[in-house]
Amino acid sequence: MGVGVAVVGSAHVDYTVYLPRLPRRGETVIGDRLGVSPGGKGANQAVASSRLGAPTAFVSRVGSDSNGEMLLRVLRENMVDTRYVVVDDETPTGVAVIMVGEGGENIIAVYRGTDAKLTPGDVDRARDAFSDAEVVLAQLEVPLDAVEEAFRVGGEYGLVRVLNTAPYRPLPPGFEELVDVVIANEVEASQLLGVKVEGREDAERAAKALAERFGEAVVTLGSRGAVACRRGAGPVYVPAYRVRVVDTVAAGDAFAAAYAVGLAEGMELEERLRFSAAAAAVKVGRKGAITGLPRRSEVEALVRSVE
Ligand code: ATP
Ligand code: RIB
Repeated sequence: MGVGVAVVGSAHVDYTVYLPRLPRRGETVIGDRLGVSPGGKGANQAVASSRLGAPTAFVSRVGSDSNGEMLLRVLRENMVDTRYVVVDDETPTGVAVIMVGEGGENIIAVYRGTDAKLTPGDVDRARDAFSDAEVVLAQLEVPLDAVEEAFRVGGEYGLVRVLNTAPYRPLPPGFEELVDVVIANEVEASQLLGVKVEGREDAERAAKALAERFGEAVVTLGSRGAVACRRGAGPVYVPAYRVRVVDTVAAGDAFAAAYAVGLAEGMELEERLRFSAAAAAVKVGRKGAITGLPRRSEVEALVRSVE
């Protein structure tokens, strides 16, 4: 087996209404299209990692309901190892209710369901997933003690531990020591640092400050690109690829998964930043979460197209 990624995180079914524009508070906007797509940041990142070419295992929980069955089927169709996905008889699978406006912008509400039930014990029982991997990748949609256990076990096996701080929640003191690479968008970087982060210059300062804390940091800037920095070095910026934007849901997931794959494959920092920006750009050109995630060949073609 080649290099691998163990993803620990959430799994949802996303119900997405495509609207001419997002509603204001108290307003109803009518849309004509409804998408039902497997999603959840964990499942999205697991499928993206696998489609980008890394043998990928997923540590998660789903319910013993039709949504859970759909997720397991789609994960398996995408060659994700689902042996570490616990099927919970008592709790429904998580659900996301999403609105997407014409410019691709979105609002997401999540019912956590089985996400909330993922335990450190579930992670511990998935040790075989870690022993085969190079990188462990987690987000913050599942309980923090499960993420903490993932990074503790990842550390035991010498994996690169990557935290995507989405959605943001305060981290307990000392958590940085369990993490090798942090990936945050502008809002999450602001929340982590307690200062405004908006635009390239702020992001460069933020990435440098976060790299001092975590070792390596990436700050993503939506259509304005992304910055990465390693402790003790200067920040590296790459612009976003110019694509027609259809739906930005899971752009951050495609980016984080690609970054993990780049780390697992030993790509240089700038190369993996570009690879990640291209993976996210392919995603924003397509509808849905898992349904819109990129394949390796598409990402490589986009990178080549601007070389
Ligand atoms: P999301 O919540 O939409 O999944 P995010 O908030 O986690 O994303 P962003 O910073 O919005 O993260 O986007 C992540 C990366 O995706 C960006 O750094 C960029 O490379 C790519 N991206 C996002 N939006 C666009 C866009 N409109 N055009 C091209 N690339 C984009
Ligand atoms: O990052 C996108 C994901 O966030 C969606 O698939 C939704 O399920 C929420 O978890």
